[in-house]
Amino acid sequence: MIKAGIIGGTGYTGAELLRLLHNHAQAQVIAISSRSEVGRRVDEVFPSMLGQSDLVFSLPDDAVLDECDVIFFATPHGVAMKSAGAFIEKGIKVIDLGADFRLKDKNEYRQWYGLEHTQSDLLASAVYGLSEINREQIKNANLVANPGCYPTAIQLGLKPLIDNKLIDLSSIVADCKSGVSGAGRVVNQAMLLCEASESFKAYGVSGHRHYPEIKQALYSLAGESVDLTFVPHLVPMIRGMQATIYVDLLDGNKDVQSLFENAYKDESFVTVLGSGNTPETRSVKGANFCQIGLQKAPDNNKLIVISVIDNLVKGASGQAIQNMNIIFGLDEKLGLEQIGLMP
Ligand SMILES: NC(=O)c1ccc[n+]([C@@H]2O[C@H](COP(=O)([O-])OP(=O)(O)OC[C@H]3O[C@@H](n4cnc5c(N)ncnc54)[C@H](OP(=O)(O)O)[C@@H]3O)[C@@H](O)[C@H]2O)c1
Repeated sequence: MIKAGIIGGTGYTGAELLRLLHNHAQAQVIAISSRSEVGRRVDEVFPSMLGQSDLVFSLPDDAVLDECDVIFFATPHGVAMKSAGAFIEKGIKVIDLGADFRLKDKNEYRQWYGLEHTQSDLLASAVYGLSEINREQIKNANLVANPGCYPTAIQLGLKPLIDNKLIDLSSIVADCKSGVSGAGRVVNQAMLLCEASESFKAYGVSGHRHYPEIKQALYSLAGESVDLTFVPHLVPMIRGMQATIYVDLLDGNKDVQSLFENAYKDESFVTVLGSGNTPETRSVKGANFCQIGLQKAPDNNKLIVISVIDNLVKGASGQAIQNMNIIFGLDEKLGLEQIGLMP
């Protein structure tokens, strides 16, 4: 049985890790941290866990975390950068759900996250953890940088097209929508029910923190620079994320439907919808799936790729568990086979 620890167990991704790992046949959470809830029982803070767990929140530096085989950092950026190294030196695998090890360029990290990166060696050794792209490297990783949620939806939507050099790389537009849980559980006026509900707005239009991550990932796929317009929006729902991606096909006669179906035929968590169908975020709510639909514009070579995920599952905690499964040589699907909630 793999012993897992969660640092940041009271946040949305930490709670989701707890929920998903509870049904994992080969892993068990033995430690969970919270500074604000230290000493309280997990099932007192999360009544959904009543009768399911005797865990008590500890501090993030409690010695019990040293007994783990894997530690998940479900914390704001800056936290894993400081503490991941000490766990790795003890032979503990680390999976960071935050952004500390995603951007390979320390200057970009400083520019977008406002912090100096102090762990060059760890940064160099970190593997970017999008399983469908980096599976082989993840197998041997001591430190995994779990991808951001928008970057996940966008990369999975573009990978087959970029791999096969089918699109103009200078004109990609990713018009994206996220549910409110994407902002985390920390109190934030803009995320209050009265502010976010019954409304719809773009944010981070002139620059969002996921922009450099997406650019870096698409560059890595394409082997050349990619010009991207990325506009995120907040929608009044709790979970869910959609990336509507507009690309110009170099050859409008290409059978992109078959190409996508073939590209993802062996992937357990990427589903390509039948020709002309559009996915909905609710179909993947609570599930680790990415669903992709393809539509062609009527009068030109524009292809519209629609990619949906649950930001807390394939966009965060589910992806992190998929990475844990790969690192420990387990079936990638373990603990992740639940389908979306309906309705
Ligand atoms: N929400 C999403 O959809 C999503 C998706 C992908 C990735 N992510 C990333 O995943 C990470 C967690 O996101 P979240 O939405 O779960 O955040 P959150 O709801 O705000 O939770 C943050 C957690 O971290 C703990 N924490 C905060 N500061 C800490 C510190 N200095 N040391 C130790 N623990 C600390 C908090 O508990 P205490 O303060 O009680 O210790 C809390 O449990 C973030 O980096 C986020 O960008 C989030």
